[in-house]
Amino acid sequence: MAIRLGDIAPDFTAQTSEGAIKFHEWLGDSWGILFSHPADYTPVCTTELGAVAKLKSEFSQRNTKVIALSVDAVDSHHGWIKDINETQKTSVNYPIIADSDRKVSDLYDMIHPNASDTLTVRSVFIIGPDKKVKLTLTYPASTGRNFEEILRVLDSLQLTVSHSVATPVNWKDGDDCVIVPSIQDPKELASKFPKGYEVIKPYLRMTPQPNK
Ligand code: BEZ
Repeated sequence: MAIRLGDIAPDFTAQTSEGAIKFHEWLGDSWGILFSHPADYTPVCTTELGAVAKLKSEFSQRNTKVIALSVDAVDSHHGWIKDINETQKTSVNYPIIADSDRKVSDLYDMIHPNASDTLTVRSVFIIGPDKKVKLTLTYPASTGRNFEEILRVLDSLQLTVSHSVATPVNWKDGDDCVIVPSIQDPKELASKFPKGYEVIKPYLRMTPQPNK
């Protein structure tokens, strides 16, 4: 069954390139990004996993752990990691789940039989510290993902969880935000948005990013 926003991310135990993990325990109090790729020793995946390694400090600054998955075995992962490090000029610094028995892929509905019976699609799940799924993305095998966009969504999620704003089209950290429609009381507006706000339409009110 497909995983929907707000669902508890299914827990599992798995072998990874960095040893056995219990997923929820491994996540601890962090945010998490679980992403699948079709197979080891494939070109697009090689570039993606290298890019994620280079962004490790960006994820850490956002209290976020990353973990990859494919349906290949640990030995295969270890050999491929050497290639990723060599070709992408980096060092893979996060675990890759070895899901040979497809246990995790099935739990997270990462195999789409009309795309491939055997390979995982490019799924992304962002999971909050409450273990709830905050974002799902599905890309085809032929299209590498944009992990800068994943960081952008993390920034939005982490902002909007603690301030009464949402983020508009193409927003990036530091840009103005929209005030959520549920806030209408003028006193509440004044106390929550001391930097002020602009009423463009009654339903479209912009304010400087509250935590900047
Ligand atoms: C790749 O990662 O390069 C890839 C994997 C499966 C199908 C097509 C491309």
